[in-house]
Amino acid sequence: MFGLMTNTELDKISHKGDNVTCEAGFTVFHGADNIFLGSNISLVDSILNAGSGTGSITIEDCAFMGHGVKILARGHNYTSYNMDRQLEVMERPIHIKAGAWIGSGSIILAGVTIGRHAVVAAGSIVTRDVREYTVVAGNPARVIIYDIRNKDGWLARLTNRVTRMLNGWRK
Ligand SMILES: CC(C)(COP(=O)(O)OP(=O)(O)OC[C@H]1O[C@@H](n2cnc3c(N)ncnc32)[C@H](O)[C@@H]1OP(=O)(O)O)[C@@H](O)C(=O)NCCC(=O)NCCS
Repeated sequence: MFGLMTNTELDKISHKGDNVTCEAGFTVFHGADNIFLGSNISLVDSILNAGSGTGSITIEDCAFMGHGVKILARGHNYTSYNMDRQLEVMERPIHIKAGAWIGSGSIILAGVTIGRHAVVAAGSIVTRDVREYTVVAGNPARVIIYDIRNKDGWLARLTNRVTRMLNGWRK
């Protein structure tokens, strides 16, 4: 496909299935051995920081990303100071399940699981687990559509609308 390329960063990841693609800018920042990719995955120009200890990034089949996504299984201990803060890393696994779509500019933080076929709207910062078949948006990401499979019934539309209003008030 036009624009897609192999990338030496992708070659660093040994646990991967078939048809995993990326574009210029794709970066494995830490922990290539802690990254587990299924098949038919489009990583675009994402940055993956899996960490080198207890962190990991697992991405299941058919999940894909928009531009500029960051997946950060590693952070630092903010209760330490100075060099200790830099040196003390905190890592938790991130799991992106089959078919999930991570919109452009989103950030997925440590410990998060994105459910099957869920959607992370562009520009979201995901701090909590996302249930399967839901759409989340914003910072912090909150549900905007409860169930993609049933979003057009009047009750579902009302629920989604009220939820989005409440999200606005909670900001
Ligand atoms: C999530 C998404 C798919 C929803 O698309 P949609 O069905 O057209 O959504 P709607 O326009 O009906 O929006 C529904 C509501 O969610 C809100 N919303 C949609 N996307 C949002 C976002 N990224 N952040 C915050 N709120 C968002 C809308 O404002 C709207 O709220 P309202 O009814 O209170 O006004 C789309 O907004 C999106 O983020 N797509 C990602 C695009 C991308 O990353 N492309 C790169 C190539 S893969």
